[in-house]
Amino acid sequence: MAIQRVGVMGAGTMGNGIAHVFARCGFSVVLCDVEQRFLDRGLATIAKNLDREVAKSKITAGDKVSTLGRITAVVDRAKLGDCDLVIEAATEKFEIKAEIFRELDRLMKLKPEVILASNTSSISITKIGAMTGRADKVIGMHFFNPVPVMKLVEVIRGLATSQATFETVRELAVKLEKTPVEVNDAPGFVSNRVLMPLLNEAMFAVMEGVATAEAVDEVFKLGMAHPMGPLTLADFIGLDVCLDIMRVLQDGLGDPKYRPCPLLIKMVDAGWLGRKSGRGFYTYS
Ligand code: 3HC
Repeated sequence: MAIQRVGVMGAGTMGNGIAHVFARCGFSVVLCDVEQRFLDRGLATIAKNLDREVAKSKITAGDKVSTLGRITAVVDRAKLGDCDLVIEAATEKFEIKAEIFRELDRLMKLKPEVILASNTSSISITKIGAMTGRADKVIGMHFFNPVPVMKLVEVIRGLATSQATFETVRELAVKLEKTPVEVNDAPGFVSNRVLMPLLNEAMFAVMEGVATAEAVDEVFKLGMAHPMGPLTLADFIGLDVCLDIMRVLQDGLGDPKYRPCPLLIKMVDAGWLGRKSGRGFYTYS
């Protein structure tokens, strides 16, 4: 089936980035969130990021207008009903995703061919698929922040995901000018299974006074040529997201090496969530 109309559930950092790339690549997009103010913020972010691309002559001012024109922002989930594929990019909590997938499956009951994808960073695609009556059409499509820039899409097969669903999503990622990498379903997949323990360990180093956040970041930028040090990256991803992912690793893999750093827990409890809240390992104006 040719995919032309794509639904995106969630207009936050990942959702607005996903809507941005689909619309920029010619798809019509229905962007859905629970409140109009989240949609307004998401659309404003997309406009700002398209301006960067205009400034860098990657797209024209006309492309920006037509890209924005391809996005319809809705609060009513029923309006996703005419989409050919829906990607969920909501909060990284299983209960929230389970409710969304149950409802999407219901909304699409007359369209059993519709693929339901999740941009989950770590939660089991198999478990999400089991919330629906179409587990063969449920798949992970994991984008990276900033979505308009990062080339990777981790494509995650749940236990029941069909080969046809996998092929469709792999081709879709290529149409978005991304590089799909196939991964099987396991906590954190590959990206966050490896990345999050690194960020968590960097936090332990700060907590134990081994070095300051700035020093840890310098080590990785200058010694390993990372574009951002691990603590800057943790702030960029969101410390609440990092904690949620560490908990999925800890619960799913059961090895104490995945325990979240107490400093991370404390900072999230304080509402210091990184760049988005203005304070994390660094302060942001
Ligand atoms: N939208 C569109 N373009 C953007 C953008 C955005 N949101 N953010 C940056 N850009 C563009 C800039 O315009 C610039 O374009 P150019 O190459 O044509 O000049 C380019 O990206 C680089 O940006 P800047 O020059 O402003 O800044 P930097 O050189 O410092 O790069 C960065 C910024 C791309 C964010 C870089 O620091 C980086 O790659 N950081 C690491 C990001 C990373 O690791 N992301 C993955 C996080 S993990 C994740 O998402 C998974 C989840 O499950 C947790």
